[in-house]
Amino acid sequence: MSSFKAIVIRKGEAGQTVGLADFDESELMEGDVTLRVEWSTVNYKDGLAVTGKAPVVRRFPMIAGIDAAGTVETSNHPDWKPGDRVVVNGWGCGETHLGFYAEKARVKGDWLVPLPAGLEARDAMAIGTAGYTAMLAVLALERHGLTPDRGPAVVTGAAGGVGSVAVAILARLGWTVIASTGRPEEADYLKELGAAEVIARQELAEKVRPLAKERWAAGVDSVGSTTLANVLSMTRYGGAIAACGLAGGMDLPTSVAPFILRGVALLGVDSVMCPQHLRREAWQRLDTDLDRRKLAKMTEEIGLDGVVEAGRRIVEGQVRGRIVVKIG
Ligand SMILES: NC(=O)c1ccc[n+]([C@@H]2O[C@H](COP(=O)([O-])OP(=O)(O)OC[C@H]3O[C@@H](n4cnc5c(N)ncnc54)[C@H](OP(=O)(O)O)[C@@H]3O)[C@@H](O)[C@H]2O)c1
Repeated sequence: MSSFKAIVIRKGEAGQTVGLADFDESELMEGDVTLRVEWSTVNYKDGLAVTGKAPVVRRFPMIAGIDAAGTVETSNHPDWKPGDRVVVNGWGCGETHLGFYAEKARVKGDWLVPLPAGLEARDAMAIGTAGYTAMLAVLALERHGLTPDRGPAVVTGAAGGVGSVAVAILARLGWTVIASTGRPEEADYLKELGAAEVIARQELAEKVRPLAKERWAAGVDSVGSTTLANVLSMTRYGGAIAACGLAGGMDLPTSVAPFILRGVALLGVDSVMCPQHLRREAWQRLDTDLDRRKLAKMTEEIGLDGVVEAGRRIVEGQVRGRIVVKIG
């Protein structure tokens, strides 16, 4: 019986434990494709899973990790054959289905996306769920008909993973980007990624007025709560905000004023159950619209043995940009 190294979360009487362990291949869950995982990444949700800070994990034991890039080893799925290079994220992996902080994974072939021709597996995981979600948010703004000539775009939680990638993509697409961060020391970093202006998180943390001075035409919000409510109240007539996160809280203390008096739209973004055609579009656009030098600037690399510590750091808001995990 062969085994492989994985970050395994177990639940016992004393609560949840997490650590690097040997996992038996016979315990892999059902699926028609077996992958050799080469790279993974640490997202906010991974941090919640490994720290147990929120009930992300719904099955025990669980291999944590919601993202993978790697190679198909065996396949009973008509679309995939051994040697194919693929990306997979979401669909409950790392939550209800065994995830990807592991040398091996078994998944449904329907969940896989081909690794875009211009991306290395490591690049794909430097992007990861956070970056792909940022791209989904930009696609949502575009589908709403917004273009850079309508005014600036705001990005909240800008020094985080979703935020950093959103800043880089929007700047590349010609938007004037206003980056909101709680870490003023990251202002130069955000400007290097393409932000035209950096504002303090606190500016969006004040008591929410139904309508405030119009400041931006579009936005990508990974913070939620009062921040998102303030962002909406400051959105220009006919603008839209793509909401994808809750780093600041799950509530939304807003009023209908921005929607009914300024025609502002709130666009929801979900990466987990996102349909295949949108995933493929997002990965193709990431291939063309994300500057690799900027991606390199925002990425740090760790091994499997660094995942738990990185998970702790990300839920404390201490991670800048993205973390890739080299597997094996
Ligand atoms: N909808 C989806 O499918 C989807 C997909 C991916 C991620 N997400 C969500 O998006 C959010 C960001 O994910 P991520 O991986 O980018 O995490 P991350 O790297 O930790 O980024 C989150 C950023 O939010 C800011 N922040 C943290 N705590 C805050 C607080 N209390 N108040 C205000 N701002 C705060 C920080 O940015 P600054 O230091 O710059 O202020 C932090 O870097 C998470 O909530 C995650 O669950 C959702």
